[in-house]
Amino acid sequence: QTSGQQQLIALHERTRDLYHHLLMNTKVGEEALAYLHGRGLSDELISEFKLGFAPSQRDFLVQIAQQDKVTAELMERSGLFIRREDGSFSDRFYQRVMFPLNDFRGKTIGFSGRLLKTKDFPGKDQPKYLNSPETELFNKRQVLFNFDKARNEIRKQGEAILFEGFMDVLAAWQADIKIGIASMGTSLTEQQIAAIERITGQIVIAYDGDDPGQAATDRALMVLAEHSRLNLTTVTVPEKLDPDEYLRKYGVTELQNLLQHGRQTPFAFKMSYRKKGLNLENEADRLNYLEAVMQDLAKVQSPVEQDLYLGQLSNEFHLTRESLKQQLQMIRQTLR
Ligand code: CTP
Ligand code: MN
Ligand code: MN
Ligand code: MN
Ligand code: MN
Repeated sequence: QTSGQQQLIALHERTRDLYHHLLMNTKVGEEALAYLHGRGLSDELISEFKLGFAPSQRDFLVQIAQQDKVTAELMERSGLFIRREDGSFSDRFYQRVMFPLNDFRGKTIGFSGRLLKTKDFPGKDQPKYLNSPETELFNKRQVLFNFDKARNEIRKQGEAILFEGFMDVLAAWQADIKIGIASMGTSLTEQQIAAIERITGQIVIAYDGDDPGQAATDRALMVLAEHSRLNLTTVTVPEKLDPDEYLRKYGVTELQNLLQHGRQTPFAFKMSYRKKGLNLENEADRLNYLEAVMQDLAKVQSPVEQDLYLGQLSNEFHLTRESLKQQLQMIRQTLR
């Protein structure tokens, strides 16, 4: 690590602490703090994760940096500022609830800011989440939110739960589930998978229950299937809720139950996911569905698991096991 990188980390951690102070102890942060409380986060959790608030003022951080004699060059490299045409700086993040993003050692290397809409600041046309740009420290494809804090528990418990959003990781943490991590709103990258694989062989995917979340689950399963040593399961949150919404609605015990006992195998997930948008009363839809699902089943390695689902499909669609087996054989031959 170069001294330039150390300076950048110091700038990020100073910024993180300032934003956190504004949130916890000042009038400027009041609405943001009320917002987080309203979403069920305790002061203890907010402090543990050092959540913060970037005020609406466009030069809050610029002024601090100038007081601290931070060089223009470092300001530019940090990604925390936007350089105007005339060479002057403004803050990249304003009017946002700030989530520090840490590297695997727990050093803060970037931020994600969630827009806080208020009466005075409707924030039209602004993205809900804004991330740090790519810098020499921060690579979105590498970061896993909460990996630094969850790492030891993941090792100990032998599994990680992959959520879609930060709020879900935090909700789970508050429910004493300390093995939650999240990628940065992108699909899972090979670097992220490699980092997880180094500490556990078991991943539970618990994305949002809505359609985009389920589509993302399907994609994640596809990417992760390449890593045949990983043991994968999925959880579909009922009523199209996000895990954090589920916690708010049903409480800690129910979220724990869902994440513990609501797990499906990847194939079981696909069996229900592929039904979306189809009318199984219709013969053509039914055949298409079976075709797709048998393709999935052909990829299941365990003979016992295969037999289990063959039985289910034969019951559900009133087909003989014999014909389903033949179908599998045919698919197998084309896969070879
Ligand atoms: N995300 C993003 N940019 C957006 C929307 C989402 O980067 N405009 C990323 C964020 O990392 C977010 C994740 O995608 O955590 C999941 O998106 P979404 O489900 O929309 O966000 P939530 O975490 O559910 O946001 P909230 O509950 O605060 O509305
Ligand atoms: Mn969500
Ligand atoms: Mn979502
Ligand atoms: Mn949400
Ligand atoms: Mn959402």
